[in-house]
Amino acid sequence: MENWRPSYRLLKYSFFDRRANLKFLDSSRTSTPGRAYNFSRSCELFQQDVCFQRRKFSTFLRGSGNGVMASLQNVDDNRCRIGYRNFASMASTTVRNPSFSVINSDDIDYFKKILGESGVVQDEEKLDDANTDWMRKQKGSSKLMLQPKSTQEVSQILDYCNSRCLAVVPQGGNTGLVGGSVPVFDEVILNVRGMNNIISFDKASGILVCEAGCILENLISYLDNEGFIMPLDLGAKGSCQIGGNVSTNAGGLRLIRYGSLHGSVLGLEAVLANGTVLDMLGTLRKDNTGYDLKHLFIGSEGSLGIVTKVSILTPPKLSSVNLAFLACKDYTSCQKLLYQAKRNLGEILSAFEFLDINAMDLVLKHLDGLRDPLPSSTHNFYILIETTGSMESHDKEKLEAFLLQVMESGLVTDGVLSQDINQASSFWRIREGIPEALMKAGAVYKYDLSLPPEKMYDLVVEMRGRLGTEANVVAYGHLGDGNLHLNISAPQYNDSILSKIEPFVYEWTSKQRGSISAEHGLGLMKANKIHYSKSAETVKLMASIKTLLDPKGILNPYKVLPTSLLSHS
Ligand code: FAD
Ligand code: MLT
Ligand code: ZN
Repeated sequence: MENWRPSYRLLKYSFFDRRANLKFLDSSRTSTPGRAYNFSRSCELFQQDVCFQRRKFSTFLRGSGNGVMASLQNVDDNRCRIGYRNFASMASTTVRNPSFSVINSDDIDYFKKILGESGVVQDEEKLDDANTDWMRKQKGSSKLMLQPKSTQEVSQILDYCNSRCLAVVPQGGNTGLVGGSVPVFDEVILNVRGMNNIISFDKASGILVCEAGCILENLISYLDNEGFIMPLDLGAKGSCQIGGNVSTNAGGLRLIRYGSLHGSVLGLEAVLANGTVLDMLGTLRKDNTGYDLKHLFIGSEGSLGIVTKVSILTPPKLSSVNLAFLACKDYTSCQKLLYQAKRNLGEILSAFEFLDINAMDLVLKHLDGLRDPLPSSTHNFYILIETTGSMESHDKEKLEAFLLQVMESGLVTDGVLSQDINQASSFWRIREGIPEALMKAGAVYKYDLSLPPEKMYDLVVEMRGRLGTEANVVAYGHLGDGNLHLNISAPQYNDSILSKIEPFVYEWTSKQRGSISAEHGLGLMKANKIHYSKSAETVKLMASIKTLLDPKGILNPYKVLPTSLLSHS
């Protein structure tokens, strides 16, 4: 098993050329462990990617050059008046909770005593990064970041902060897209990046137990060597931490196949606001003893506790992986294609992603080294279909029959199957690179919606009608999961644009009984919008749970729930 290396099918067809005579042109193989194409990228490529991702994220965090940010004003009173075009309606009206203390030198001394010098970060440049979110819309003014190395240290920190009434922001890789991972004011930043050990991996069951600070891509790489994969994969894998993934209940590119983290996470350890350690780190598939409290921490965005350890069920790595990049003339064809893919590809379907022509144009314009895989004519929609299975001949037969059918029925107008690992990576790069391209294009209004797939694109069309030439409406997402990423791109932030988008987008989604956050969470951006997707009674119960677990409200204040509902506000 040690030297097990996956195979990658080299195959290609151009549908137009070979409509009547589908066949695999090249069946030679490449053996490569790796990621995005997680089972098949080379180690070398993986290393480059880790570096690339890091560079990419730190560029976004540090740079201020492209006009996305407005000037930084003084945060001289207790109102959050940040010159960044922050999560407009929310952050600009947030008032600092006066019951929170301000850090003093005794606090710093205490933290140094328990964490040592290296665990107490006061360096300005590091703090600047940690205060700024990935979207560069939110900028806090924290003067302190703590980096514990054990659950015990996390517990000591929270016990102390709770007794002193110091507010705390849990932070992972800081790749969150809703302003949840950075301080709004001067909250202490708590980052568990120093807790990055793999505790155990059981090959028989595929159960991985690790600390919350492990970077997702490192876990993917570790598992690859063991012949397994992570059940989640997302574009931010080079920076995000598994603790952050669990705390946001991240979805990503594989949810269609492996389901949400509510299914894959078997257990976790979390530390409550008062320092109590909750050991729920089970590794059982079945355990119906009372309430399954771990689910409270999956997706609660650091508002109920700090996740310190995770146990997760990982699927075995399968040897036959294929990726098709297809074009459709209209959105109805994309939907029909999904319907057919679920039926015809069945258990081998492992991703079904879509992007529209505006997303494709944006990526080609702003990201270096990418080219249109289907350049011969103009298409309106693109679909990525990945299959993963254990038997090449079986997968080939299924995929061939499926592609033949959808071409002949006209659902697909053109397409290409990745021929080698580099081509597969470049296809994924087009899809995964859209958020980065959007950032390069200027200002971005980002919405992450769950909608009935048949209605999803109506919203995009309506939004284009509302905005006219004022902004570029870009659509992509996890079509297989009914998740639309609706992004409105403009040269600068502008109140006229915002007023045409909100509250329209939330009201529209609510009317469809959709969700205003499919996978990114509520964070600061949507804390006051929760009622568009949840009933008043449900939100009230959530507020009671928050108050029960964190009576002083020190954990990630101003996020997730409307502050007005919390008794400590
Ligand atoms: P952070 O951004 O640091 O934090 C996110 C939230 O979790 C915050 O509220 C924070 O307080 C809390 N938190 C972090 N760590 C802990 C902890 N240990 N304990 C308690 N609370 C904690 N998301 C998706 O769902 N699907 C995608 O496909 C996807 N793709 C992305 C692609 C790009 C390029 C980018 C930039 C982001 C993407 N995201 C996606 C959003 C983001 O990456 C995820 O939400 C991710 O799970 C956040 O992990 P993180 O470690 O960066 O957490
Ligand atoms: C994605 O699917 O690319 C992510 O969720 C990020 C985004 O929505 O921009
Ligand atoms: Zn997504």
